[in-house]
Amino acid sequence: MTTKNTLSITDNRTGKTYELPITDGTIKAMDLRAIKTDDKDFGMMTYDPAFMNTASCRSAITYIDGDAGILRYRGYDIAELAEKSTHLEVSYLLLHGELPTKPQLDAFSREITMHTFLHENVKDFIDGFRYDAHPMGMLIATVGALSTFYPEAKDIYNKQNRHLQIIRLIAKMPTIAAWSYRHSVGQPFVYPDNDFGYPANFLSMMKKMAEREYKANATLVRALDVLFILHADHEQNCSTSAMRGVGSSQVDPYSAIAAASAALYGPLHGGANEAVLRMLNEIGNVSNVPKFIDEVKNGKGSRLMGFGHRVYKNYDPRAKVIKRLADEVFEVTGKNPLLDIALELERIALQDEYFVKRKLYPNVDFYSGLIYQAMGFPVDMFPVLFAIPRTVGWLAQWAEMLDDSEQKIARPRQIYTGKELRPFVPMEKR
Ligand code: ACO
Repeated sequence: MTTKNTLSITDNRTGKTYELPITDGTIKAMDLRAIKTDDKDFGMMTYDPAFMNTASCRSAITYIDGDAGILRYRGYDIAELAEKSTHLEVSYLLLHGELPTKPQLDAFSREITMHTFLHENVKDFIDGFRYDAHPMGMLIATVGALSTFYPEAKDIYNKQNRHLQIIRLIAKMPTIAAWSYRHSVGQPFVYPDNDFGYPANFLSMMKKMAEREYKANATLVRALDVLFILHADHEQNCSTSAMRGVGSSQVDPYSAIAAASAALYGPLHGGANEAVLRMLNEIGNVSNVPKFIDEVKNGKGSRLMGFGHRVYKNYDPRAKVIKRLADEVFEVTGKNPLLDIALELERIALQDEYFVKRKLYPNVDFYSGLIYQAMGFPVDMFPVLFAIPRTVGWLAQWAEMLDDSEQKIARPRQIYTGKELRPFVPMEKR
């Protein structure tokens, strides 16, 4: 049999056969438009709520094989990057496609360090939030507000200008995050310290009180950096799709990052580790785990938060790294008392038919919350701690989209299910 890289489709309504080219294992949805019953027919579309089987772009940044549990940034395995690299090195890799040389990394790190300060007006802005405002809400609003400080950021096709905004965003997100936290606990803002690296500076802005210099524990600094690496990108997830979708309108990157951050705030995405901790607190005790699992299975309770993933149906490679990291952190901080409940949940779920059949495994969020809590971060800060490192992933994907000549403003189609045309009914006749 001669093989061809095409797909033949026969429309049984008309008996016509169409031959569509296959490229990279996909057909173009627009090629289906030629399939019509007659000239007036709009043409065939695909229906794919939640984009379960639709590639929205070509991307050279992150590779995931969900069945094999593989995650790679620019071809490098996530576990190797987590072991051997730093978040800023990985950031350079995601943005530029190659690991930096020493001078390149030094220059990149210096640039980031030089842009960590926020305009003084931002302090007033954050101070305007209510005392109990959620830090993620403050982060979303404040990063969006930065577009008003940098109106030139609209010039997104000017590469030099784009680079400056990317540096600013990576540099300023930790400052916004830390200041949002400090406001929510009524503590004075701490300015960035240029003598520190990226994670140590963030910890200083979060935790420094009256001491001259906040000396973070080296193991915790490294742990935070590894968590940042693990969260830096994850191809076309909900928030990245928001970044690309909103960015496709050619809005400035601060507004697009605000939209992406908002997507990350949801409990099914970046809010999941917060939900894991609340769930563990609710369970309260190891002896309550079987009852909780039963409720999850019979649909009476919530889902088992931190379990399951749209893409990983084998295991989440980030969860493996995080579990090891948790041991290192707990050696410094003491064990998180909720760990035993988490371990028991994992033990039972991994052998329970309900979870095995549905390929539900712990995801990155199952243990990250326990680590963050042991490090002294309040639960409200968890999605914020995700947004800081994901910023570079969003920006790398956004820049890739801007340079992709196949991309246009994102605009899905719909299947209209509403009423046909009907005459307006005057008020007295309704
Ligand atoms: N607990 C119990 N059952 C679950 C869970 C869970 N955590 N996740 C999925 N299921 C079940 C569903 O009820 C469904 O069962 P059914 O076939 O009997 O109806 C089946 O598994 C498939 O679930 P879907 O919702 O179709 O899977 P989807 O790919 O849409 O969802 C998601 C993925 C949203 C991550 C889901 O697994 C979930 O809600 N998990 C909990 C929240 C969470 O941990 N999110 C973090 C994701 S990682 C991240 O964003 C960084």
